[in-house]
Amino acid sequence: MTAEADRLAAEYFQTGTLSGLPRDHFIDGRWSPPQYGRMMETFDPGLGRAYHAFSAGDADDVATAVEAAVRAGPDWARSRPAARGAVLARTAALLREEAPRLAVIESLDSGKPLQEAEGDVAGAARTFEYYAAAANTLQGDSFPIGHEYLGYSIIEPAGLTAHIIPWNYPLSTAARGIAPALAAGCTVIAKPAEQTPMTALLLAEILHRAGLPAGVCNVVTGTGQDAGAPLVRHPAVRHVSFTGSVQTGVNVMREAAPNVTRVLLELGGKSPVVVLADADLDAAVEGILGAIFENAGQICSAGSRLVVDRGIHGELLDRLVKRAEALQIGHGLKRSQFGPLNSAEHLSRVTAHVESARKRGLSIITGGNAIADPATGQGWFFEPTIIDTAPANDPAVQQEIFGPVLVVQPFDEEEEALMLANGTDYALVAGIYTRDFSAAHRLARDIDAGQVFINEYFAGGIEVPFGGNRMSGFGREKGLAALEAYSRVKSVAARIGK
Ligand code: NAI
Ligand code: MG
Repeated sequence: MTAEADRLAAEYFQTGTLSGLPRDHFIDGRWSPPQYGRMMETFDPGLGRAYHAFSAGDADDVATAVEAAVRAGPDWARSRPAARGAVLARTAALLREEAPRLAVIESLDSGKPLQEAEGDVAGAARTFEYYAAAANTLQGDSFPIGHEYLGYSIIEPAGLTAHIIPWNYPLSTAARGIAPALAAGCTVIAKPAEQTPMTALLLAEILHRAGLPAGVCNVVTGTGQDAGAPLVRHPAVRHVSFTGSVQTGVNVMREAAPNVTRVLLELGGKSPVVVLADADLDAAVEGILGAIFENAGQICSAGSRLVVDRGIHGELLDRLVKRAEALQIGHGLKRSQFGPLNSAEHLSRVTAHVESARKRGLSIITGGNAIADPATGQGWFFEPTIIDTAPANDPAVQQEIFGPVLVVQPFDEEEEALMLANGTDYALVAGIYTRDFSAAHRLARDIDAGQVFINEYFAGGIEVPFGGNRMSGFGREKGLAALEAYSRVKSVAARIGK
């Protein structure tokens, strides 16, 4: 498995591309070229160069996909949940069989280290497995409204669902939207990010091979403006799942509003990791490093603020700096520990955030610079960075940087820790490190967040509902909550007599 992935990585370094990559949309069960033949390029962030061209879709391609989904909708909605689950289970098996190639493509397109991409593919397979089983749990209620009446609910699929996918977790995000939507009996049109279109296309093709009827799951590629917006605006679309920036989320809400289309928004975060004085520091160090340097910090749920008891601040920071400086930086396909940022544009955004922090006089205790891959002199890298002690109202504390930049906020009392933790407009996740059971659960109760991790950042999996509050969005993905998100309840009340 590892050998196969490394063989493909070697093929890429020899040829500058990979064979058999998709170029077309996937519509109505087949590869479908863009109607006006426009193409665009996708880049390898590790070398900062284009390696493949794909379809630049537009409203006409979206319309073709919508027609296919509308044709396929009724039969899929009426199919037995168990039959839908069987397709999802076969999809999970195919994802596992084809994991090495998928992981290499995901790593190449996004820049992330290959072993992280392998984890993402395994997670996507697990997601399909979970919803294969969860399809069997779909059920309604009966309502006791009196002897002469019968009251019950019918669970219906939400209809045609659009999935607007970001570039940081292309396959995982596609899977966590598409699997529950299909389990619930919905049809799907996904629009992957223009930076990372490959694995969503391959997933649609795998679903088809697993027995999904033509038209039930379609993927249209292209930019947000040309392909995403027409999809969200299309009156046949009844639900939009969006993961990405706050600004685009607001635009998506606006585009969906005229048709009163449901939206589920998973936006950014500025999530705190709260470390109390009695914490297991080994566990905290591991957790914090993963929370902010995994995927080079390009994670909506990254732990980007360290809220730490002043008594252990010095020791914890010493250990974090040593580990951050030891991270081996390089091209994702070389199984580096720390890869590039996803695009030149994003690298300049992260650089601008850190430059302005430097100008405000904040102390950058490690990292702080855009760099190239030391091995090749190429690529869009930014050093693992720690800013020690920023005031609560500083932009470095308030704004999502979406890169490998940890900002430290020391505290003296638990109450102050809580105030700092809740001190941004975001409320996505929070981490807590302490051995004090009551303090942990007090903070879990009082921190405003969609999910809280205690003593292991990112604990949990597909079973655990996930989403944000306030500017981090609304609605819940993952878990059985996602089945509800893609379903509608119809209540029936009948007078049936004595
Ligand atoms: P974005 O939010 O604009 O893009 C996300 C997705 O939305 C992409 O598929 C894009 O094509 C699509 N899109 C863009 N405009 C659209 C529209 N009007 N209608 C429908 N779909 C549209 O994010 P972008 O520009 O890639 O990154 C900007 C910032 O967003 C990043 O610096 C980061 O801070 C944040 N971000 C947050 C993510 C998260 O997981 N919460 C993921 C990606 C970016
Ligand atoms: Mg790319």
